[in-house]
Amino acid sequence: MAYIFEEPSRTFNEYLLVPGYSSSENRPENVSLKTPLTKFKKGEEPAISLNIPMISAIMQAVSDDGMAVALATEGGMSFIYGSQTIADEAAMVARVKAYKAGFVVSDSNLTPQMTLGEVVALAEKTGHSTMPVTDDGTAHGKLVGIVTERDYRLSRMSLDEKVADFMTPRAELITAPADTTLKQANDIIWDNKLNSLPLIDTDDKLAYMVFRKDYDSHKSNPNEMLDEHKRYMVGAGINTRDFAERVPALVDAGVDCLCIDSSEGYSEWQALTLKWIRDHYGDSVKVGAGNVVDAEGFRFLADAGADFIKIGIGGGSICITREQKGIGRGQATATIEVARARDEYFKETGVYIPLCSDGGIVYDHHITLALAMGSDFVMLGRYFARFDESPSNKVMVNGSYMKEYWGEGSARARNWQRYDLGGDKQKMSFEEGVDSYVPYAGSLKDNVGLTLSKVKSTMCNCGALTIAELQDKAKLTVVSSTSIVEGGAHDVLQKDKTPYVSNAN
Ligand code: XMP
Repeated sequence: MAYIFEEPSRTFNEYLLVPGYSSSENRPENVSLKTPLTKFKKGEEPAISLNIPMISAIMQAVSDDGMAVALATEGGMSFIYGSQTIADEAAMVARVKAYKAGFVVSDSNLTPQMTLGEVVALAEKTGHSTMPVTDDGTAHGKLVGIVTERDYRLSRMSLDEKVADFMTPRAELITAPADTTLKQANDIIWDNKLNSLPLIDTDDKLAYMVFRKDYDSHKSNPNEMLDEHKRYMVGAGINTRDFAERVPALVDAGVDCLCIDSSEGYSEWQALTLKWIRDHYGDSVKVGAGNVVDAEGFRFLADAGADFIKIGIGGGSICITREQKGIGRGQATATIEVARARDEYFKETGVYIPLCSDGGIVYDHHITLALAMGSDFVMLGRYFARFDESPSNKVMVNGSYMKEYWGEGSARARNWQRYDLGGDKQKMSFEEGVDSYVPYAGSLKDNVGLTLSKVKSTMCNCGALTIAELQDKAKLTVVSSTSIVEGGAHDVLQKDKTPYVSNAN
């Protein structure tokens, strides 16, 4: 007879945390959100830890190289989407690894023949007021001058005037060699009262620009995820079909961690993929696997050698897997059961396998709940898709700014490998995801900062200064449907939802 899980399968919305004793030490500034990304033996340190418990989803609408840099700056990690060619995915990874924080490849470049009118138009388009002038107008052409707002006065000049006639010429510019460190560049900027410093190669070609304001903001990112060469860390998605070609290309590009991206992880394909990686790279290549929703699935992937395991089927905001196929499990129940299995596994083997709750995070407090339930970090798609840094289009829908966000199982993504159950068909028979809009929310930095301030605050209420302590001390309660109503504003008319009010006196 079929096995029936008697307990209902619950979502994050059905739980609340009950506060524990908090001492005077339990202040948000004392909380550390550092958390393991990859497995480790008792008494040892993980090879990779995240500085904040957030990774971005392996999705076309979420994780490209731009998102990866923005998230690594804040202490998390992106997993670049695998539903693209191997060369394109590897190139994105390589761009993240080559990115030098504080060193800008200029995107607003001029030639000496351009006019003041063109300068004004470019400044409006890019929002940048400092523009290098190069012989060919490219970011790495031979430097011949610079134009800043101080070089022209619109009220007194004709828009036809040539850049060559009003730029600050090369001979008057202070520059530095391309191998100058950020600290040295900043010292030159300060000593010479500059706003920017061009770094040039030996043949006078422009390499980077360093800006005074960027150095200051670089210093204000204490959580940056950096490798031993001070490069940003980045992950990448792989599938169970072309791993023999994809994995070597990503490793060559410098990827820090891989993750098998699949809608269902309890499968021989995942074990074969993990085995191939271990056979070819031993433990030097780190790889997560998933997704699973019960103890059995966890055991399978743990024994197969996964470095971390992802939890979740059908809970994602754009997922329709549960509707289409009738498989899945409430994200909270899945997280709790898999975490119990992980803790038992740790007791038995002395190996701690980090868990990632993937999908279904709607409110910021769902992150805290997922951590309290035993997850070590969370994967977010919808959350990150809303930000400036996501690769998708920003559009206006009914008067509001939105970003496009589509599932990897939607026809738009064409990611058949993620839903592959073997065979030669190489295409999806039906969709498991939708194409949608999500409200535009501004910059990643501002939003992550706000979200994590809430997470830290709740952790303090639970008497926890670390995620491990939260997992240990948290008390969770199932809420009734009426207590959910009680939890929001109720029995009042909210002013921001009441547009038409007149004075009754
Ligand atoms: P959120 O809720 O953060 O979920 O938007 C992101 C996660 O959803 C999964 N995903 C999908 N699942 N059909 C599915 O059933 C899809 O088209 C799809 N696309 C992404 C994935 O695990 C992601 O991290």
